[in-house]
Amino acid sequence: MCMKDYYDIVSNIISNDRFKELKNDTHHSTNKYDHLIRVSKLSYKLAKLTKSDVESTTRAGVLHDFFYGDRKASIQNSYLNHPYTSANNAKEVFNISDFESDIIKTHMFHHTLFRSVVPFINPSEKVKIKEGKPKSKEAWIVCLSDLIVSAYEGLRYNVATKTSLYAIFLFNIITR
Ligand SMILES: [Fe+2]
Ligand SMILES: [Fe+2]
Repeated sequence: MCMKDYYDIVSNIISNDRFKELKNDTHHSTNKYDHLIRVSKLSYKLAKLTKSDVESTTRAGVLHDFFYGDRKASIQNSYLNHPYTSANNAKEVFNISDFESDIIKTHMFHHTLFRSVVPFINPSEKVKIKEGKPKSKEAWIVCLSDLIVSAYEGLRYNVATKTSLYAIFLFNIITR
């Protein structure tokens, strides 16, 4: 698959200084910048395969974790809140569309489901299943891409992260 279009879509984002700061943030045992590139590449490929909105899916994929610091650093960075923080940052810096913003806001749906059955983890976060559910094919693509890449990164760096549990949990839900 030709990746020229991919770089045409993301070049203004990945060359931006505020985006490049994400190289300093550890994320799934890699850095956030590399994680976002991986997720956006997979999102781009899946969007092409499924004849979805390639540009919006790729832009949302590369900006879905556009927040600074660790997820434990503040309540705005938490597992369920960082999608909103990322969408706000992406709007401010790259003027993303409302459609792209909605894709970013629902990328943690797997965690929303997980939290709905394990409510004692981070009880201060509010779990809203209806609000957290992806609203478009493009949003499902970014959510799925993030899950796959996160599991890959966790396994690749031989770290027992929660992402493996998420994948197993989601697999059980889908195949039930
Ligand atoms: Fe995320
Ligand atoms: Fe992510």
